[in-house]
Amino acid sequence: MKKVIVVTSSPRKGGNSETLADMFAQGAKSAGHEVEQVAVRDVKLQFCTGCMYCHSHDKCVLNDGMNALYSKFQNADVLVFATPVYYYAVSGQLKTFLDRLNPLYTRKNKFKEVYLLATAADDSEAAMNGSVSDIQGWIDCFDGVELKGVIRGIGLEDRDDIAKTDFGQRAFEMGASV
Ligand SMILES: Cc1cc2nc3c(=O)[nH]c(=O)nc-3n(C[C@H](O)[C@H](O)[C@H](O)COP(=O)(O)O)c2cc1C
Repeated sequence: MKKVIVVTSSPRKGGNSETLADMFAQGAKSAGHEVEQVAVRDVKLQFCTGCMYCHSHDKCVLNDGMNALYSKFQNADVLVFATPVYYYAVSGQLKTFLDRLNPLYTRKNKFKEVYLLATAADDSEAAMNGSVSDIQGWIDCFDGVELKGVIRGIGLEDRDDIAKTDFGQRAFEMGASV
């Protein structure tokens, strides 16, 4: 059994990327894994101040919703990030969240596998290249961590467009294969 954390970063509750995240979580649970879901919009979250306090202390200097999450992330086996494509990049919400995971940079982390679930209105797969590159840049800062899978949910503009596609099923299968 693996510990899986699924992070969603759209302000749109129940939208396309969150549906992918839910399906991935269901798949992982069906395979017997322990899954925790974190919605960035529910985390009290400020921008990283760049002070590097976290490099010499066990936590962030900011007293918001993040300090409660670091140990969970450090001890997870699999991290999954779901994002809407905003201006051909990950959402600002996800970027801010990734920056605030900086206390993990100096820790010995268990996670070695990362998945990206992205949705965009654009119907070209290249629309996700910026988001893949954003996540890969974060991954490259952690030894031995790999981007294990990406769902490129293209052609999804309205909140429930995903229901008309098989991306949800693909996310379920990816979650089940973790
Ligand atoms: C601020 C903003 C920027 C966006 N930028 C892009 C973009 O660059 N390319 C694109 O294809 N879709 C873009 N979209 C559309 C969303 O990526 C798309 O609707 C996505 O499926 C939304 O996912 P969600 O339902 O999980 O929020 C943008 C939407 C917003 C609100």
